[in-house]
Amino acid sequence: MSHKGLHVRTFGCQMNVYDSARMVDLLAPHGYTPVDTPEAADMVVLNTCHIREKASEKVFSELGRLRQLKASKRAAGGDMVLAVAGCVAQAQGEELMNRAPWVDLVVGPQSYHRLPELIAQAARGGRGVMDADFPAEPKFDHLPDTTEGQGASAFLAIQEGCDKFCTFCVVPYTRGAEYSRPVDAILAEARRLADTGAREITLIGQNVNAYHGTGPDHGTWTLGHLIRAVADVEGVERVRYTTSHPKDVDDTLVAAHAEVPALVPFLHLAVQSGSDRVLHAMNRGHTADTFRDVARRLKEARPDLQLSSDFIVGFPGETEADFEATMALIRDVGFLQACSFKFSARPGTPAAALTDDVPDATKTERLHRLQTLLAEQQRGFNESCVGTVQPVLFDRPGRHDGQLAGRSPWMQPVHAALPETALGRVVPVRIREALPNSLAGEPVEAPSPAPRTTSLRTCA
Ligand code: SAM
Ligand code: SF4
Ligand code: F3S
Repeated sequence: MSHKGLHVRTFGCQMNVYDSARMVDLLAPHGYTPVDTPEAADMVVLNTCHIREKASEKVFSELGRLRQLKASKRAAGGDMVLAVAGCVAQAQGEELMNRAPWVDLVVGPQSYHRLPELIAQAARGGRGVMDADFPAEPKFDHLPDTTEGQGASAFLAIQEGCDKFCTFCVVPYTRGAEYSRPVDAILAEARRLADTGAREITLIGQNVNAYHGTGPDHGTWTLGHLIRAVADVEGVERVRYTTSHPKDVDDTLVAAHAEVPALVPFLHLAVQSGSDRVLHAMNRGHTADTFRDVARRLKEARPDLQLSSDFIVGFPGETEADFEATMALIRDVGFLQACSFKFSARPGTPAAALTDDVPDATKTERLHRLQTLLAEQQRGFNESCVGTVQPVLFDRPGRHDGQLAGRSPWMQPVHAALPETALGRVVPVRIREALPNSLAGEPVEAPSPAPRTTSLRTCA
């Protein structure tokens, strides 16, 4: 079999990171080996994101550049297959084919297991090939087992799709209905990941805590049950999960936070806004106070738990009072980090029909205030870590010679002087210094108790 170079460029969320890795696994038996640049590639896949307008537009500008590369390869007697995968492929497949006819194939997130067939079809020539179906049989049944190790920290997709239909969001349309993988398949993949060096496994899904997969006992397992089984896999020292929805935090999940030491005390729980009026218009199905209550239950179960979140500013109709309610929620819950965005009207979603009436300058200013508050809270927490000893998973070389970099349980980047033999290991580190975006420390013998926990100031 002749060797072919494959370059996969990933945009968007952790689901796309996972899917890109699976495309590499899938194409390896067909002679494709990953290469670092499109110039060195016989096939380029853009694994795309449709979540905000900017994300989508990036794809079209990238396709412009690749058109020239393809043309110069052809002029030199070679060629390059150009594929667009992911959520833009799903949402705008036809438009892509029309706007960029030099694209050879378009494949949606639920059909990329058919890539080898589609490549063969594209090679036969003619107009570009497209598959943006939602096949009834889940793609996971058709993907080969993971072959490549992902390193010390690995993603494992347990769930796909979303049935929540928040009014601003394209995901239910691009990824389809919720599907949960069976427990046995997940545990087999977790064992393979641990065998290839993973010490930390992050269970991922668009709505990961809506997980309801079939267990080996033929019963339905929740995420709370699944976490216990993944934590028991030999070699797994840490379990995380993302992204979760406040409505789906059930008692089994809260109990897992209380009882599974490997489950890290850090959770990304998207809230979007602190205003009940805006939450209602977003169809989130929860209020600011029900969110506070969920946060309180989780922190009671695991007192050192910290939260991060997602926020949208400038949703249609958002007033200064609505925005202040969001700021109050951020202070009350003590969020450490957030992904925060200006509202972007997405075609086909209900919110796109509302008047996008918050001026862009106001959105920018609110985003800045929100990010400044979160940075203050993160800095306060980082400073409270100084002097404590924390378990750090070292997974990459540091900036200076003789240094490694890793993550604390709360996702803070930590640097310490350590030999390369410590790569892929959890090492106790005494935190010496809180830098603007990271911590510095030195390895010691044993971990100490967690740093100060931020309290829920408005909750009893
Ligand atoms: N499932 C997660 C949840 O329940 O919130 C979020 C998944 S979405 C891929 C990631 C984040 O993108 C959302 O939480 C939201 O903050 C942001 N987002 C989604 N649609 C958006 C839009 N139209 N404009 C701005 N931000 C958006
Ligand atoms: Fe989008 Fe998350 Fe809402 Fe689903 S729950 S529609 S993925 S924001
Ligand atoms: Fe983007 Fe699709 Fe993820 S729209 S955020 S790549 S689910």
